[in-house]
Amino acid sequence: MVELLKSSGVKLPEKTSEYNLTRKKIHFRDMSNEERTALVAKDPAYGRIVCRCEGVTEGEIRDALESPIPPASLDAVKRRAGTGMGRCQGGFCGPRIVEMLMERSSGTSPLSILQDKEGSNLFFERTAESKEVEA
Ligand code: FES
Repeated sequence: MVELLKSSGVKLPEKTSEYNLTRKKIHFRDMSNEERTALVAKDPAYGRIVCRCEGVTEGEIRDALESPIPPASLDAVKRRAGTGMGRCQGGFCGPRIVEMLMERSSGTSPLSILQDKEGSNLFFERTAESKEVEA
């Protein structure tokens, strides 16, 4: 593949850094109780379960949102952190993840949050009630 790309004129510069072997993904639900206790003592965000069906914590979702290439939609978070794939299909955890997506990029309107691809906006417009609260 490399030779094929080179022969077609694609520039393939040598990487200046090694693969990051220190990057570690936390799977809270696969940990022992002792490991969970130690992790929560270090970072309480791992003690808050956001996705009850899949046992995914706020800390795991935050880690995904702070990764070098952060997920930008509800489904992207689902693919990274494993949320929204349980019995309720995101009915319970979805709203909190939307909040976390908005918190990550402060000032983002909920109207711009996507389910997945461009045009899959979760919300169409503000309700009359939310407009009153804003005023
Ligand atoms: S709470 Fe996340 S899928 Fe049910």
